Amino acid sequence: MDIEMVERAYRRYARGYDRYFGAVLEPGRRALVERMRCGAGERILEVGVGTGLSLPLHPPETEVVGIDISLEMLERAQCRVAREKLTQVAGLARMDGARMAFADDSFDKVVAMYVVSVAPDPVRLIDEMRRVCRPGGELFIVNHFLHEFPPVAFLERAAAPLSRHVGFHPNICLHSLIADTRLDVIERTRVNAFGLWTLLRARREPAAASPPAG
Ligand SMILES: C[S@@+](CC[C@H](N)C(=O)[O-])C[C@H]1O[C@@H](n2cnc3c(N)ncnc32)[C@H](O)[C@@H]1O
Repeated sequence: MDIEMVERAYRRYARGYDRYFGAVLEPGRRALVERMRCGAGERILEVGVGTGLSLPLHPPETEVVGIDISLEMLERAQCRVAREKLTQVAGLARMDGARMAFADDSFDKVVAMYVVSVAPDPVRLIDEMRRVCRPGGELFIVNHFLHEFPPVAFLERAAAPLSRHVGFHPNICLHSLIADTRLDVIERTRVNAFGLWTLLRARREPAAASPPAG
């Protein structure tokens, strides 16, 4: 799967996305925004913001920037911002989350809801999320990972080649992802129906103290 395939897939899904994935994935979105406990003036980046279903959940005193690779999904997010007068949304832009144009340390909190298993390179995506998050800031991810119960994991692995055609990897192993990205996970919670999705809160390591002068 490459980024052009993702774009093509979401060009097709944009129209029906809210109907099929709105309510069913909403508990995870709400749980994630609650965990963020954002304060006034905090800058938040949403990677893979999609049609902006989560945007109304962010407190009005925050400043949210959303990016997505799909123009069709972003157009719907833009309509939502206008329709619901979401003053917390500072901007929406088309951008690849694995190659962001933002400077290092630009945001207090960086979020990806249901994006890791559709991104072509999840490790690079998370590396980029960490790069644009300030030292001491936090990363939040909600996603489906390979089930820990072996028979279910077996079925998910078997379905992987098929799922690739619809732009979704059901077989991402959370332990490997944490090892590959060196994510400093400080909270892990099961969300959505049957707890089949996982919410992660991770800390962006604080800046190293500079050695005393002289
Ligand atoms: C399953 S949707 C999730 C949308 C939204 N976050 C939600 O909660 O419903 C995944 C979104 O991630 C976007 N996406 C996937 N890979 C991406 C990447 N590398 N960079 C930016 N957006 C990406 C897709 O275009 C799509 O809009």
